[in-house]
Amino acid sequence: MPAEILRVEGLRKEFPGVVALDGVDFSLKQGEVHVLLGENGAGKSTLVKILSGAYRPDAGVIQVDGKPAQIKGTTDAQRLGIATIYQEFNLVPQLSVAENLLLGRPPRRLGLVDVRRMRTQARELLERVGLRIDPQAKVGTLGIARMQMVEIAKALCLNARILIMDEPTAVLTTDEVERLFAIVRQLREQGVAVIFITHKLEEIPQVGDRVTVLRDGRSVGEVPATADQDELVRLMVGRPIDQQYPRRSQPPGEPLLKVRGLTRAGGFADVSFVVRAGEVVGLAGLIGAGRTEVARAVFGADRYDSGEVSVNGERLPPGDVHAAMEAGLGLVPEDRKGQGLVLGADVAENLGLVTLGRFTHAGFVDRAGRRKAAGDMAGQLGVRMSGLGQEVRTLSGGNQQKVVIGKWLLAEAGVLILDEPTRGIDVGAKVEIYQLINSLTASGHAVLIISSDLPEVIGMSDRILVMARGRLVGEVPAREATQDLVMALAVADVEDARVEK
Ligand SMILES: Nc1ncnc2c1ncn2[C@@H]1O[C@H](COP(=O)(O)OP(=O)(O)OP(=O)(O)O)[C@@H](O)[C@H]1O
Ligand SMILES: [Mg+2]
Repeated sequence: MPAEILRVEGLRKEFPGVVALDGVDFSLKQGEVHVLLGENGAGKSTLVKILSGAYRPDAGVIQVDGKPAQIKGTTDAQRLGIATIYQEFNLVPQLSVAENLLLGRPPRRLGLVDVRRMRTQARELLERVGLRIDPQAKVGTLGIARMQMVEIAKALCLNARILIMDEPTAVLTTDEVERLFAIVRQLREQGVAVIFITHKLEEIPQVGDRVTVLRDGRSVGEVPATADQDELVRLMVGRPIDQQYPRRSQPPGEPLLKVRGLTRAGGFADVSFVVRAGEVVGLAGLIGAGRTEVARAVFGADRYDSGEVSVNGERLPPGDVHAAMEAGLGLVPEDRKGQGLVLGADVAENLGLVTLGRFTHAGFVDRAGRRKAAGDMAGQLGVRMSGLGQEVRTLSGGNQQKVVIGKWLLAEAGVLILDEPTRGIDVGAKVEIYQLINSLTASGHAVLIISSDLPEVIGMSDRILVMARGRLVGEVPAREATQDLVMALAVADVEDARVEK
């Protein structure tokens, strides 16, 4: 029997208006991967933050190696051998990869930071996670997936005995997830205990040993990682979910979004497609295939060298987000923290950010109307909050994502581009979002959905466009699409992949 390395009993944590943890029991053995599962706002990250010393609990006991442990701050956690990969990145965007990796403990020579050794050490760490990037690159310039791999490398260099990973796979694609799992298995062999949080149920049997389910701040069950998905969902949500992808197709109408020959040197080339009224079109591909770049260029957030974009027959000036929004285009960005939310503002304000015009009459803002619309949307998406006045900063990760999506769903843009819309969203809330997407298309809107979750793209789209290395390499109607087919197109070399008719 492997020794119990960590035990938590009756852990409680209250925030103004919310009981985040209401008596959590949890135990972790040496060399096990213990999955923490629960709906958005169930208390997973709060538990993690207590164990890593970011929050103090209101009540409860924490034992490490059978002895009561006081974790008053991050140094206590480090001393106990606990390292954490947070759900929100803790990287400093202005610093280089090497500086971020060795933040706080850079190698020194004669009292000065030894820059050469720092780079070598950084390179070794990056190799461990299979990330080929320049250690001198600024972290802020990396995509979100690469940032996550840096975050993982950073935690690994602490040589922790307990490694906590809060949704490490949310922003990774299949390849990177595989690499991460290989690392996790290797750590487990070495006796490291891992707490692993994910909303992707299929990952649980691949990487986990045991699962603890949290619901409303309480531990409601502990099952082996081989438990079937229905059982996990029932424990988590309290009811079964019958239809995961409730897609209803209708005959497509007029083309609403037309993209022709969109090209940017070093980014993407000759990208052409249309999205018609009533359609959901999926955009699949590996990370780095250029999907987000194309979406941002179409929306006017980034420039392009040539090509054209039109919405509703009206040609958009390049690089002009305001014109795009005026024309009825919306974009839910993949990086919610950087681009989607005003963290210091409350839920109602964030939900109202793009609908302000609709609730302004003769120069007066109809606050009550706006608040009611925000409240209805928050209710529909099941945003877990103390009220519409809660600061978005203090919402759980998944609930923040719901607010970003809700804001754009409320805007009722004629053409909505969703970049990884359900990242970090629990299984129950996903279905609500799918239903809202369906009601948009049913009323004649067009939706382009970028997702690394293949079952989701296949389940929710009428057609799937596949990108690889900056080009469109294939188009598959949903009824013919399988994960294997889409993946095969996504990894095929641009040279021998032909755009199918
Ligand atoms: N600093 C804070 N101030 C106020 N409320 C907070 C704070 N941190 C967390 N909460 C609340 O505590 C509850 C639990 O949040 P937590 O982040 O632990 O959820 P989670 O299980 O990690 O969810 P997700 O899957 O969405 O990441 C939520 O209702 C959240 O709004
Ligand atoms: Mg969380």
